[in-house]
Amino acid sequence: MLGAATRKEITALRDRYPHPRSAILPCLWAVQNEQGFLTVEGMTEVAEILHLVPSEVQAVSTFYSMYFQKPAGAHHVLICVNVSCALRGADDIVGHVERRLACPSGGTTADGAFTWESTVECLGACGGAPAMQVDHHFHENLTPDTVDALLDRLRSVPGAHAGAGATPSGPHPPTAETPPLATAEGPPAGAAPPTERAETPGPRTGTTANPRGPRSRPRRRPRPSPDDL
Ligand code: FES
Repeated sequence: MLGAATRKEITALRDRYPHPRSAILPCLWAVQNEQGFLTVEGMTEVAEILHLVPSEVQAVSTFYSMYFQKPAGAHHVLICVNVSCALRGADDIVGHVERRLACPSGGTTADGAFTWESTVECLGACGGAPAMQVDHHFHENLTPDTVDALLDRLRSVPGAHAGAGATPSGPHPPTAETPPLATAEGPPAGAAPPTERAETPGPRTGTTANPRGPRSRPRRRPRPSPDDL
């Protein structure tokens, strides 16, 4: 049985949209925030409140990789392996993380601190490749050293979701308790210069400015004229 606060939140989400079906995603976040993963019972309660059949809610939950179908670690790490990141060393980062966490992609560390995956196809952070997402925060321009620093720090920080090794985080969207490696003013003193930006799953409550300004395109080389050939 979901808690009263979560049921109230789901009811409010239902009433926010013209059709209750539109509230499925944020409702699933609410369940995951409370329970650590999406239990069948929790999704059934969501369906009841939204006046939908349970299979409709469950079908949505299995479509997105950010929803857990089983208990997960306190921190969720997603490493992009698509083209931009692959060209800038994503495979090396994946290998490094696998050795460092001592469990394969899709697994959870023995201490329950991390669940990680390297099957993500583009996080939308191509300009900062190689990139990964940790508890809904982006970390870009990764190197093995910056990954190590981040993982070390996260071990002592509560996770974004309830569940194994984590503490409840309050209202969704999940707010990672991870202090940024870098800010708009620049990286902390003595730190390598990875960049981080927060992603806010669920209903957007405002726009997030990119502290780096608009993304720039690489300058094209001028085409040779026929006289040069
Ligand atoms: S290819 Fe990695 S973020 Fe787009």
